[in-house]
Amino acid sequence: MFLSVSNLTKSYNTGIITHVLKGVNLEMKRGQIGVILGPSGSGKSTLMNIIGGVDSADSGTVEVDGERITGLNDKQLVEYRRESVGFVFQFYNLVPNLTVAENIEVVSNISRNPLQTDEVLSAVGLFNKKNRFPRELSGGEQQRVSIARAIVKNPKLLLCDEPTGALDLETSRGVLSLLQKVNTQFGTTILMITHNSAIAGMAHAVFRMRDGEIAEVRQNSELIQAERIEW
Ligand SMILES: Nc1ncnc2c1ncn2[C@@H]1O[C@H](COP(=O)(O)OP(=O)(O)OP(=O)(O)O)[C@@H](O)[C@H]1O
Ligand SMILES: [Mg+2]
Repeated sequence: MFLSVSNLTKSYNTGIITHVLKGVNLEMKRGQIGVILGPSGSGKSTLMNIIGGVDSADSGTVEVDGERITGLNDKQLVEYRRESVGFVFQFYNLVPNLTVAENIEVVSNISRNPLQTDEVLSAVGLFNKKNRFPRELSGGEQQRVSIARAIVKNPKLLLCDEPTGALDLETSRGVLSLLQKVNTQFGTTILMITHNSAIAGMAHAVFRMRDGEIAEVRQNSELIQAERIEW
């Protein structure tokens, strides 16, 4: 398995102890798209952040492409995040006073084997807007820049936490079909959190989280093109 999560647990102590992850198991093959569905507070982002090496688990293991992420030291985690993982968030997190191209180069400049900025900008359909600032773009365009920034390092794993959470239907379709294109064009394994079960049709594997556990796993044999998703 490309991604393998075993018996992952995580609790927070804020006076009272909250068990956020109660023994999560999840597996994905290389090159797949996976979707995590589930109610607010069920632990989706916590799980994704541990997989991405930005949060730590109490027990259990995460393995990505044969490397055990749980158990890496701080220096190794920095390396893992820099080389292997791309992140896309609901609210783009672009640097406002850098242009589109500069936002991408911030990442490619510190990556070992980055793609060309222009190639990535063409892939997301924003080559002709590379010298604009984020405020001069629509929400959907800003999200496409954040996807470009996440994929320019050519990560093995792209983690998306509600990438269409702030977008309308038509714009969401554009962003989702871009993610599908990244998946096929670059072979990037993608794990995406969403509240929208309609999106599950474009994923090879669908994980339904409930109260800190994976309550259901579904594999789709036929994938829906993102452009066709209705909700
Ligand atoms: N730093 C923290 N300290 C204490 N509790 C936390 C912390 N981070 C998250 N939690 C709690 O962990 C639970 C799961 O949070 P998480 O963000 O993983 O949920 P989620 O499924 O992503 O929800 P949403 O769909 O609203 O984004 C929540 O009850 C939340 O309050
Ligand atoms: Mg969340």
